[in-house]
Parts: sequence; structure tokens; C-alpha cells
Amino acid sequence: MSTRDALVLAAAVPLLSVAVTTPASAATPLTAAPTAADPGRGDRAGITVIAHRGASGYRPEHTIEAYRLAIEQGADVIEPDLVSTKDHVLVARHENEISGTTDVADRPEFADRRTTKVIDGRSVTGWFTEDFTLAELRTLRAVERLPQVRPGNTLYDGLYAVPTFDEIVALAQSESIRTGRTIAVMPETKHPTYFASIGLDLTEPLVATLERLGWTDRDAPVAVQSFEVTNLQELHEQVDVPLVQLTSATGAPYDLASAGDPRTYADLVTPAGLREVARYATWLGPEKNQVLPRDAANAIGAPSTLVDDAHDAGLRVAVYTVRAERQFLPSNVDVMGELAALFDAGVDGVFADQPDLAVAARAQHARC
Ligand code: G3P
Ligand code: CA
Repeated sequence: MSTRDALVLAAAVPLLSVAVTTPASAATPLTAAPTAADPGRGDRAGITVIAHRGASGYRPEHTIEAYRLAIEQGADVIEPDLVSTKDHVLVARHENEISGTTDVADRPEFADRRTTKVIDGRSVTGWFTEDFTLAELRTLRAVERLPQVRPGNTLYDGLYAVPTFDEIVALAQSESIRTGRTIAVMPETKHPTYFASIGLDLTEPLVATLERLGWTDRDAPVAVQSFEVTNLQELHEQVDVPLVQLTSATGAPYDLASAGDPRTYADLVTPAGLREVARYATWLGPEKNQVLPRDAANAIGAPSTLVDDAHDAGLRVAVYTVRAERQFLPSNVDVMGELAALFDAGVDGVFADQPDLAVAARAQHARC
């Protein structure tokens, strides 16, 4: 069977059972190695646009429709945050507490599931994915998380289900075939220490899915993110896919802090810390303010040395999160100005809620 025939056949496979591999000839945007001449970039058009929770500026986040729109808008990568159901299925939600992103609070049949838990040292009250089977969770419908900021998105409230990781992967595969572009997937493991502590380790089903797909080598169209360190180091022992060490401008990885390890995110982004990260990760995923610090007037100016330091360590850099709305932006630029400043700073990728704008800014940057 020719490659083309195989791809056509794969396109006919029902969504939930798809297990095709992306064509080997297709370039993946996640694994290009940094070069001395142009660290981490290859060329200017090589900047990777990562649709943050889908095209979440335009649709309720973490829905198949948000991901589908992101792909239409030209995103290279779709990003699901992953949490577990009670029956150990990975689903896409930003948090395991789902009152802000689903209609669960309006469902009388689940009223008694409301509870308070301590997640990563913080008391949280609401409804939690780990208390719902997948079948129960599928009866819920997604709602816009930021209705005040994105009132237009509330038009879609109640229309869409919570997708599984497998469904998101299947979408990326079928859309790769349909569009002829490689649509990669960049899942983030949410609260891995917490989920392991309740017997719902995230790594196990994640690796099972990667193995089923044949996505275990460095050229696979996937990269796995975490704000924690230990689960990435463990993944590095099990699979060769690119890994993304996320960092915050403040605080420390929860796994390290809870184990008494004094290292903070600030330690991870020193030149020595970055060299350690590069032992297991391909990408660094810093908060955008770590690349473009803001002054007292909330304005951006000269970039920090972080991108250069990360490139020197052999890491690529994808910053989060670019959002078009005024309250998320520096005081002295609009979203296109912020994207241009990030590209000028040398980032290799951006997580964007409006992927269409990041694609447009990238094209403009390539022309300059
Ligand atoms: O994964 C990149 C970015 O999404 C990290 O922050 O909270 O939006 O998942 P968060
Ligand atoms: Ca994320």
C-alpha cells in the first residue's frame, strides 16, 4: 500500500480508534535542533505557533471546536492541559476543578460531588474531574471561563463536550492529513504530584497513548509540558519525545517544594539551571514576562537574557501566554507589538489564545 493510500485509509478510521502515525516525511515543528548560527530557530518562519487550549480567544477553551478553529487559523501545534477522570482517562481541562469551565454547578444530579480539596498546597472548593467517570463527565458541557473578558464566546456555552486526549490526538492526525500540514500536539500534565498521590498517575496513560500511536521518538509530532520537574525527568527515561519545562516568574515547582528541594523557578532559569533542564527537556516554556520584563508602568522594554541563555544551553524557547485583550498586555504595545517584541527577542514559539494573530505577526516578522 502506498503512503498516500495508507493516509486515505487512516482518514476513514472513526475518531476514537485512530492510531495512525503522522507521515515520516512531514516536518514537525517541535524538534528542530538549535544551530550555532541561528540558535533554536532554523529560520524566521520556523517560529512555532501553539494554540493555547485551542483558539481559546474565540471559543470556550479545551473543546474540539476550539482546536479545530485553531488549526484553520494556521496554528502549528494544539495545546491541551491534561487531568484525569475517576476511571483514569486523560481529558482536557485547565484545572481538575471544573466549575469555571463546565456547567457542572447547574447539574442537580452532581450537587453532592461539590467538595473542598487541597491541590498543590492550596484549598480549592468545587467539582473535580477525578470524582467523575468519563461517562459522567461527558454529560457536562463546556462554558467560557472568562465570560466578562470574552462575552462573545458565551454564545457557545452548553454546546461542546469535554474532549479526551485521544480525541484531540485523533483530530490532529485527521487534520494533518486533510491540510497536508503536520499538526502537532503539546499536552501539559496538570498537577502530576497530586494525581499520583490519589492513584491516578498521569504518566501511565499518557505513555500508553504515545506508545499506541508510535509517538515515542524525538521526531514524533508531540511534546509534553510540565511545571513540575520530576515527572519530566521520569518521562525522559521512558520516551524520547521532546519535553517542555515550564517556568513561572515566581514560585517553585510543586514536586520539588513538597519534597524539600529548595530550588525555585528562578534557579531553573539561571545558566547553570538551564543546562540541567537541557539534560531532559528540549524546550523551555517561560512566562512571557521572564523574556520581556515589565517596568513600574507595566511597559516592556529590552528583553532579558533568558532566550540567549536558554539557546546557549541548547534549549528552544516557547513563551506563554499571548492574549489580545488589553488587560493581558503591556501598557505600551498592542498584541501585535507584543508578538513582534517576542519574535525580536528570539523566541522559537508562542502560546497564543488568538493563533490567527500570532500567525499574522510571524508572517510580518519573516518579511522584516
Ligand atoms: O502550558 C503553557 C501555559 O499554558 C501554562 O500556563 O496555566 O495556561 O496552563 P497555563
Ligand atoms: Ca498549559
